[in-house]
Amino acid sequence: MKQYLVVCLGNICRSPIGEGWLRHAAMVRGCRVKVDSAGTAGYHVGEAPDRRSVAAMKAAGIDISGQRSRKFVRADFKKFDRILVMDQSNLRDVLALARGDEEAAKVALFDGTSDVPDPYYGGDDGFARVREQVRVAAESWLDTDF
Ligand code: 4NP
Repeated sequence: MKQYLVVCLGNICRSPIGEGWLRHAAMVRGCRVKVDSAGTAGYHVGEAPDRRSVAAMKAAGIDISGQRSRKFVRADFKKFDRILVMDQSNLRDVLALARGDEEAAKVALFDGTSDVPDPYYGGDDGFARVREQVRVAAESWLDTDF
């Protein structure tokens, strides 16, 4: 079973969408996966996803409202096969915690070579764009890994 951890800064906007799409795409394909998400910062620990992320995913028929924010911890390097981060800043923060090549090799940008921009301070259209960018990338990971 493949194990994915999706990481952004606050774990309330982008990575909950990533978790939702990976789980959904795995279900559609009949792939067995473990999926979780986390933030490099602890500002929102214990909170549900941002209501704009919940609404954007609800419009696609996916309920992410039950997720709760948690902080990325070093133990995650052992628990997951892939640690997929949303932008260059997340990449730097997670790689700074990696010990050795094996842990560092698990870390990649969720959308290959592109950042998924932080929609937190923008409008609802930013969340719809993130939802679509992350959907395509999530499908691509499952098509690559299975
Ligand atoms: P996320 O968005 O990293 O996609 O969850 C953010 C959420 C909250 C904050 C920044 C980004 N914040 O500064 O509180």
